[in-house]
Amino acid sequence: MLSRDWGPVKKIGCQERAFSLVDKLWPETYDSHSKLWLNHWQGFFLSRVFVVRVEETMAALVVVGSQWGDEGKGKIVDLLAKDADVIVRYQGGSNAGHTVITDKGTFIFHLIPSGILYRGKVCALGNGVAIDPGGLIEELDRLKVNGIPVGKRFVISNRAHVIMPYHKAIDKAAEQAKGARRIGTTGRGIGPAYVDKMARVGIRMGDLLNPDVLKQKVRENLVEINAFLERIYNTDGFTVEKIFKDYQAYGERLRPHITDVPLILERAFQRGEAVLFEGAQGTHLDVDFGTYPYVTSSSSCSGGACTGSGVGPTTITGVLGVTKAYTTRVGGGPFPTELTNEIGQMLMTRGNEYGSTTGRARRCGWLDMVLLRYAVRINGLTSLAITKLDVLDGCKELKICTGYRYQGKLHKEMPADLQVLAGCEPVYERWSGWTTDTTGLKSYRALPSAAKRYLARVEELTGCRIDMISTGSKREDTIVVRNPLIRSRKR
Ligand code: IMP
Repeated sequence: MLSRDWGPVKKIGCQERAFSLVDKLWPETYDSHSKLWLNHWQGFFLSRVFVVRVEETMAALVVVGSQWGDEGKGKIVDLLAKDADVIVRYQGGSNAGHTVITDKGTFIFHLIPSGILYRGKVCALGNGVAIDPGGLIEELDRLKVNGIPVGKRFVISNRAHVIMPYHKAIDKAAEQAKGARRIGTTGRGIGPAYVDKMARVGIRMGDLLNPDVLKQKVRENLVEINAFLERIYNTDGFTVEKIFKDYQAYGERLRPHITDVPLILERAFQRGEAVLFEGAQGTHLDVDFGTYPYVTSSSSCSGGACTGSGVGPTTITGVLGVTKAYTTRVGGGPFPTELTNEIGQMLMTRGNEYGSTTGRARRCGWLDMVLLRYAVRINGLTSLAITKLDVLDGCKELKICTGYRYQGKLHKEMPADLQVLAGCEPVYERWSGWTTDTTGLKSYRALPSAAKRYLARVEELTGCRIDMISTGSKREDTIVVRNPLIRSRKR
């Protein structure tokens, strides 16, 4: 049998054309349900011919978190990056932390797309990202120390906004002032940087390359910012000279990377390349669609991929939602399926649920289908990647939340009102767990039947197929049912 999912993306366009020709000539040779397998020698023969004769086709796959972030997007993007040509981050900043474990060691990325670990892949930070240039330079230096060449294949949008020291100071002071109502931000200055962007006083990466503009903007901004910090928050202000000196130096260091990212993406698509859009945080932290105000300040849903990188919506060919086999949340805000008992503690310990950016313990709970179905709808998910399935090994019983009960009424959809969400009681289905160890499994067939039933139920309740299942922290600990990047190539 010949899988449709083999070979690098560039060749797949050719193979696909061969497959569709075979489809027409010998329609009975396919499994009509899944269309995954070709059981005929003609397919193989024709695909070989077409590989050399037909031009390449592009793919644009967005990878988003379906929960409250920390779903394991870093590992999934790292795995898919092998078949991609360009990897783009489109929102957030160094509030994100993507951990990738390779044979060269463990890498935690806050800004640079994890695809940088593959030689020759272009990695981009889109205009929607809020960039802390000092932190970014540290990441670049760490890659250098580890012998990973970066060069010009790392590009930064000249339209991306810069996180300034005063953004971090405001973030921390504002959180402190909120007391019990604090959001639990990462303290990286994300919210205040996006506030400046929307208030049209932000400093962009391109400005770092123009000393006159940079100095003028810093001077103008500090008038208001210093008054604000000193009078409202009772804390020290900043001096123009110090900020100007540091940020001009950052600009010079990053100059070779700062460019017009949308143009680079357009050229990649014209060459028939495959582009991965790497989302940070998750659907329920999205500033519009998340559990507002307990959200981050950017568009972490799939729509953000367009506005945050400079491609049109018609370019996107697929959206992969990454979700843990259970749910976690870090920071404040309602969490209906949260477990404050020994099962929650077990998930936290076994899943090593500590933030890679702040080290904070994550709150843990059962898988929540209200959250997931909403993520499918808001992002237009075309498939799912389930992560950390192995963490559930040994649980006698598993629960899946299928709805919420609020004031005696059943809610199947995510309430927009946070007070309602805070008062929701989860309605559970019970499923039997499995006792065998699934760690490191690479084939779907090898999974225990109870795990298969659990996954099948997730597919059924979300109406979304599962393409990937992660069974451990290493790259190879993954079941790839279908490669979503290859499947999303343009027909
Ligand atoms: P901020 O993005 O630092 O402003 O934080 C706002 C909220 O988003 C807080 O509850 C953070 O804990 C949460 N948050 C931000 N980034 C991440 C992430 O990468 N994973 C999980 N939660 C995050």
